[in-house]
Amino acid sequence: MDAMDALRGRRSIRSYSTEPVEWEKVEAAVDAARLAATGRGVEPWEFVVVTDARVRGQIAALCDYGKYLAQAPVCIVVLCRDTKYYLEDGSAATQNLMVAAFAQGLGSCWVAGDKKPYAKKIVRLVGAPEQYKLVSTVALGYPADNHPPRRVKRSLQDVLHREKFSRRTGNPISPAELPAPAVAKKTER
Ligand SMILES: Cc1cc2nc3c(=O)[nH]c(=O)nc-3n(C[C@H](O)[C@H](O)[C@H](O)COP(=O)(O)O)c2cc1C
Repeated sequence: MDAMDALRGRRSIRSYSTEPVEWEKVEAAVDAARLAATGRGVEPWEFVVVTDARVRGQIAALCDYGKYLAQAPVCIVVLCRDTKYYLEDGSAATQNLMVAAFAQGLGSCWVAGDKKPYAKKIVRLVGAPEQYKLVSTVALGYPADNHPPRRVKRSLQDVLHREKFSRRTGNPISPAELPAPAVAKKTER
């Protein structure tokens, strides 16, 4: 599968078959992850592959929007050292991981890590040093047959600007996105 097909075809999968995942495919996905772009060439990432059902269950119990991690045969915990660009680096690696999984016929889903109150608990659960940041936990496995239709994305036309940002009718700014109006300062006398 070429890169464009993999990028176009990938979607989040939250329901998995019980079919085990070949270790070579897991390894290839992590190999793609470690090749991601990384600020200042730091490569702060580590990838902990968890297949133990008991540990997957513990991780799933912690994640408010990741209960299916208990059902997915593989969880990959993406950790980064606390560097300047750890979140960007770990996110780029996570995306590579998921696209490589898709290219090999696997489904995946990114479960939030950074900013979540359970992040430290997962870092501890997988035995990583306290200073590591949890960027994501990726569910991985062969998709179950009954997954919902692909999410509709904003169109290319809607997001692509040439030379300058252009406001289009199809892409109105909601009032919530506008900067707060400047409050006139009272002049002191
Ligand atoms: C930073 C980030 C955090 C996410 N956290 C979760 C999560 O906790 N649980 C979940 O089911 N999906 C999570 N997702 C997946 C998104 O919901 C999903 O990517 C989005 O709905 C777009 O769908 P698609 O992946 O099928 O294109 C997360 C994605 C990102 C990038």
